Order: sequence, then C-alpha cells, then structure tokens
Amino acid sequence: MQFGYFDDKNREYVITRPDTPLPWINYLGCQAYFGLISNTAGGYSFYRDARLRRLTRYRYNNVPFDLGGRYIYLRDDESGDYWSPSWAPTYYDLEDYECRHGMGYSIIGGRYSGIEARTRYFVPMDENLEVWQCSITNRRADHVELSVFSSVEFCLWDAQDDATNFQRNFSIGEVEVDGSVIYHKTEYRERRNHFAWFACSAPISGFDTQRDAFVGPYRGWDRPIAVERGEASNSIAHGWAPVGSHHVKLMLEPGETRQIIFLLGYQENEVEQKFDPPGSQTINKAGARVVIAKYLDAGNVEKAFQALRSHWCDLLGVCQVDTPDEHTNRMVNIWNPCQCMATFNVSRSASFYESGIGRGLGFRDSSQDLLGFVHMVPSRARERILDLAATQLPTGGAYHQYQPLTKRGNNDIGSNFNDDPLWLIIGTAAYLKETGDWSILDEPVPYDNQPGTEQPLYEHLQRSIRYTMERLGPHGLPLIGRADWNDCLNLNCFSDTPGQSFQTTTNKEGKVAESVFIAALFVLAGRELAEIAARRGLAQESGRYLAEVARMEQTVSQHGWDGKWFVRAYDDSGRKVGSAECDEGKIFIEPQGFAVLAGIGLEDGTAATALDSVRELLATPHGSVLQQPAYSRYYLHLGEISSYPPGYKENAGIFCHNNPWVMIAEARAGRGDRALDYYLRINPSAREGISEIHRCEPYVYPQMIAGRDAPTHGEAKNSWLTGTAAWNYYAITQWILGIRPGYDGLEIAPVIPEDWSGFLAMRTFRGAKYHITVRRAGPGNRVALVVDGKAVDGNIVPLAGGAETTVEATIG
Ligand code: BGC
Ligand code: NOJ
Repeated sequence: MQFGYFDDKNREYVITRPDTPLPWINYLGCQAYFGLISNTAGGYSFYRDARLRRLTRYRYNNVPFDLGGRYIYLRDDESGDYWSPSWAPTYYDLEDYECRHGMGYSIIGGRYSGIEARTRYFVPMDENLEVWQCSITNRRADHVELSVFSSVEFCLWDAQDDATNFQRNFSIGEVEVDGSVIYHKTEYRERRNHFAWFACSAPISGFDTQRDAFVGPYRGWDRPIAVERGEASNSIAHGWAPVGSHHVKLMLEPGETRQIIFLLGYQENEVEQKFDPPGSQTINKAGARVVIAKYLDAGNVEKAFQALRSHWCDLLGVCQVDTPDEHTNRMVNIWNPCQCMATFNVSRSASFYESGIGRGLGFRDSSQDLLGFVHMVPSRARERILDLAATQLPTGGAYHQYQPLTKRGNNDIGSNFNDDPLWLIIGTAAYLKETGDWSILDEPVPYDNQPGTEQPLYEHLQRSIRYTMERLGPHGLPLIGRADWNDCLNLNCFSDTPGQSFQTTTNKEGKVAESVFIAALFVLAGRELAEIAARRGLAQESGRYLAEVARMEQTVSQHGWDGKWFVRAYDDSGRKVGSAECDEGKIFIEPQGFAVLAGIGLEDGTAATALDSVRELLATPHGSVLQQPAYSRYYLHLGEISSYPPGYKENAGIFCHNNPWVMIAEARAGRGDRALDYYLRINPSAREGISEIHRCEPYVYPQMIAGRDAPTHGEAKNSWLTGTAAWNYYAITQWILGIRPGYDGLEIAPVIPEDWSGFLAMRTFRGAKYHITVRRAGPGNRVALVVDGKAVDGNIVPLAGGAETTVEATIG
C-alpha cells in the first residue's frame, strides 16, 4: 500500500493523504539555519545546534506524534468555520491534500470548502531564516472574506532547559512587536545577543504573542480561541509561553489568488550594539529589518527558491546514473545523497527520533558520514575532518561526541569507544581520494581543542592507528573499551542498576574483552594509512603499518574464525561472543561484512563461507538481521544489546547501517547478484509498495527495520539520521556500480547482476566530467576500458585533466 508517489522529475516525494503511518518528514536548511517539517507541517527550527539554539518549541512524545509546528489557520469570516491547510492541527478533511517533500523544501496544502491553500516552506541559501509562502485561492462562485492566522511557539533557546526548568522559564519570556514583525527576545536583556523574529508580508489586523491568549484556557492548537473568535487580542507575552501569531484579513473574488509570505528568522547583533537606543532594553532591529524587507518581496523569494533548486542541482549533479533499476536510479540520483546531506548537517542530533538535546555530532558517525557527502561538499568535508580531529585526545582516543555550536568534546558521553579513532582515517582517506588535496594532512590541528597542542593532521592519524596497536588484549585482538561500532555490545559495563547509562558506565578495567570488529576495521584503516604514508614518501612507516595489518589478519584467522563465520568478540571472561559455542547470539553480521570488506579471507575462502552463513542465518526478505539467535533475556556481561526485546535495534533488528557492509563484501567477492539483491531488500523506494508494513518514509533509509524475531517484522524506525545513508550510497555507487575515486584516477570496477546489460553514469571528479558507459559482454566482472576512444590498461581512468572525458567500460 502506498501513501503517495515519487515525482522524480521534480525530485519530490508527493504524499497524497495526510494520515501516513508515521510523520513523513523533510529537512529545511543546509548551512546554519535548519528545520524539520512533517507532512502535516509539524516540526521545529534551530540555528546550528538543535539543543543550544532552538528557535521554536517542540514537544517530543506528543500525541499525535508530530503535533506542534508551522501552522496556518484559515477562517471563513462569514460562517465562522476554520481549518488548517496542512491538515494538522485541526484535522478537518481536506480535498486534494498534497505534501511535496523536495530537496530542502516542502509544499503542503489542500482545499477546504472551496478555498485552496498551499504553503511552500524553505530556507534561502546563506540566510538564517525560513520562508512560508502561502498561496490562497478562492474556488467558490462567490467572493469570500477570510481571516488568516499564523502561529509559532517560541523555544526559550536551550531546548533542554526549555523542557524542564519551568520555575524559571515561566517568568523570563519577552517579546517586542513592531508593525507586523514579532520579535522574540527572551534572555536578550542579559547574555544573549541573538533574537528571533516572525514577519508577515500583509498588513495585519492584530497579533498575539502570549500563548494562552491565542489558544485560550483549556484549549489546544486544534481550536485556538483567537481563530474561533476571528480576532487576535494583541497580547504581549510577559513570561509564560511566548508565541507568534499574525492575523490577516483577506477578501478574495472567485478565482482570485493571493499570496502571504511569513518569515521566521534568527538574528545576532554585535554585543556593543544590542540595543537601540543604546542604554535602552529595546532590540536594535537595523540588521533584521534589512533581511525582512528583502524576503517580504515575492520576487526575491522566488529568486531565493530558484537558487536553492540550483544548489541542489549542483550537489546531485556530481553523480548521476541510469541503470536498469528505477529504485537504484531514484535513490542514487536523488534521495540517498539528500539523506547524506542531512546526516552531514545534523549528524544524529535532531530528527523525529532524536530529540536534538541528547546527541551532538558523533566522532565515528560523522567520520563515516563523510563517505556519503565528500563528493558533494569537499571543502565543508575538509572543515568537518579538521573539527573532528581537533576533538581527538592526546592519547589518540576520541570524545564520542561534540556539540556543533562549541565544537568541543562532550564530556557527558566521554570517550574509550575503541573503534572511534580509526574512523578518522577512513574519512580522511575518502577525502584524499576524492579531492587529491594532500595539504589537509599538514594542517595544524590541536588535541582536545587545547591551544598550543597543534600538530599536523597526519599525526592525528598516526595516533589513531597507534591507539589500537597499544590496546591489544589477550588474543592480540583490539580491546573493545566501552563499545565498538555496536554501541550496545557493552562488555565492560556489567550494569545491574536500572537507568544507568550503558554507554558511560564501566565496571571492568577493560583489559580482557576484545573486538574482532575493531580488528577488521584496523586492517582496513591500517591499509589506508599505509597507502597514505607511502604516497608521502614514508616507505618505512608504510611498511610497518602493513606488517601490523598482516599480523592482525593472522590473529583474526587464528582467534577470530569460528569455522563457518567470524567471531564477534571475546567477553570479559575470555569467552567467545558470536560463536557456535554460544547459546544465543551465535553469529553477528558486523564481523562478516566488515572483515570481508577489509579484504580478510578473500584468498583462503573464509570470506565466501562467512558470506554464505550470512545468507543462510541472517538474511530475511526485509534485510539481514544483526545477530542470531536473538538474546531472549538480559545478560549482565553483554550489556545493552540484550536489553532490547528480540528483533529490535541491536538485538537482532535489521540494522540498515551494516547491511551495506555485506553488499560491499559480496561485491568484493565478485557476486553482483547477491550484492544488488541485498541492496534492494532495504532500498526504501523498493519498499514503497509495503508502506503499511514499513511505515517510515519510502524516500530515506531508517536506522532499523524490525527483525524476524519481532512481532512487527519489516517495520522501520528511526528514519533519516543514520550511517545507513552514507554506507548504502557508498556501497551502491562505489562497489556495485563500481565508480570509485582513487589517488591516481577514477577506478571503474562494477560488480553488477548478471542480467544487467550495463548502465550509464555521469561523475564529476577532480574538476572533470566523466561520461561513463558500462556494457556487459559476458558474465564476469573483468573490465576493459576505452577512454576518449583509446584503450587503457587496467581499470583506472587516469587523471586526464580534460573537462569532459568519455569512458567506455566493457565487463565480462
Ligand atoms: C542505541 C544505539 C545508539 C546508542 C547511542 C543505544 O540505545 O541502541 O543504536 O548508538 O544508544 O547512544
Ligand atoms: C547508532 C549510533 O549513532 C552509531 O554510532 C552506532 O554505531 C550504531 N547505533 C550501532 O550501535
């Protein structure tokens, strides 16, 4: 069952009924000002940091799920009837309801009693504001007198405090109203030099800024008293809950359309110039007024929208493909890179499943996300790498997270996730291959953001690799620390206290429990660093890394191989986790995918055996589960993984993040049919037809799909902010379609299904445009290349320097 359809030409998903199984959301903004918006206009906005600088209030755990947002109300002033063209929050039946989620914008609206209204929501490039462009058309035979009410509820900036510190909050709210602009200035009198403003293009006949005055006592957003009455009360908020609402009166002739533009913005003033006149408590509005005037002009708004469209055209234009499969095309060309940009912008901080207060930017998450966006925004990727490295600790270890506003490591979550530092190498290598910008390695970067501790980025990478080498356990495998990629495999935690954090509690010294996953990651990262060292002329150092890698591979085959698959870990008692010896959790997906992806076992046949075990024991029609059998009870020595009911999250859920590891592994093993088969099992577009089961958005990946042990097998959760985005993009583009940036040029190494006759691709790489045609001539994966009409040895298109290059690849 579907709730809409893909409009690929416009790069939109069109939702045709508002009651989607879950809110289906979109992101607005791509630089500093961001918003989340659901298909019924629910959601909120923030400047840079969803916790520390939240503009509008949002109540997680609300009923319905996405209540609270950017609502417009229309009222027929003759009948007194009122409704909301985004369906929520009045929930009256709309005709022709449609929500078009596009690249950085959403258009939501429908018709009610002959009045059509659609609002286009977007954030203009290079601005800290959002536009709500509302078009209202009278489809009746008679003229109509309407009232239009806007509404936002302001957040008192720190979202954590806003949701908890009521004894203070109820007394601090402040606003100013100047013409039709409402200014929210809570805490501006003291240490903040920023404020929010809410403007309207039409002359207003009233406003409200006090929530209770607008909504009315014992009422909700579904029937605000001001709307019901048809009159705002010009309330000024003193404490309690500041809101913004404009009241505009409109008379529309039959067939007439009018547009009202609402703008919500964020503004900072120089500390010395906060007030006007100086010495007063009145906001200096000079800066804000300029921006407001610009965007209340419909022509400028249209220009800004076109600029946003062309920005996305440029981003997506870097890699476009035309394959025999429409789901592949749609995800690769449009939605998967769009999701990768969302993970770049907000990491795991703000979605409908991430509260925006708990998690900043993860060290491992952001390092991996680079794989999915480095080709679109290389210079911003560079900055991200340097920011991440600056939070690295002198030991080579890393804070698990940092707050984007301060760019400082987050002490609450701490460190000692022993995989973290290695991901920095993976991310940096991806950047180097994409850009060829070796200068990044010489950038001075501090440790733990301490001035004076700056060392070249390259040294950070050296410390990353040494961090693992210096922390090996009894079998010579890397010690796991608090956890590795799997945050929930907490082998040193031993928590028996309810509510204690599995992530930060450590009751064991951590000298025994080891991770085969980190061993595989070390092999991959070690090879990458060896290559980088060699290319920097450090042949000896490169050789040393390769020797360590070889030794680790040896250790994995000696202590990490279980007979039919790779072992997952050794616990604190030195017993195997993820082995046939275990009662539950006998086989885990991570070491199978990652070991093979890193090249382990490709020669001795263990890779193929491990992958066959995945197919036999972990694969389901909805994707491959994380482990089997699921843990049926809580195990003190395993931690959070066994806290989840079977089939959910890390306890045998389908973790969409590590499914692509298996796709890449299958590609490395040369099995294109299997690789694409796995790809399509979790491809959201391919699951659109079962939206009533999948329930999440059919245009972006979820973090997890319930596994076969769950009563809701096939149901997705936690959409948008997940490493799944980058890894699937990387798997399909670089390993299955096989278009792979390399140090010496673009490598062409497709491992596609046997029944594909080929595909076309267009890739911009190091300033040149490559027009690639892949043609299947036989069943194998061997590649023969013709570049600009000339045959080339090997499968790397040399860095030609020409602006346009034609590549013909024959595989067979
Ligand atoms: C989740 C993990 C997540 C971790 C981060 C756990 O509860 O299951 O997926 O990585 O929290 O804090
Ligand atoms: C989500 C976290 O963001 C990520 O860092 C982790 O690797 C996975 N969960 C698996 O636990």
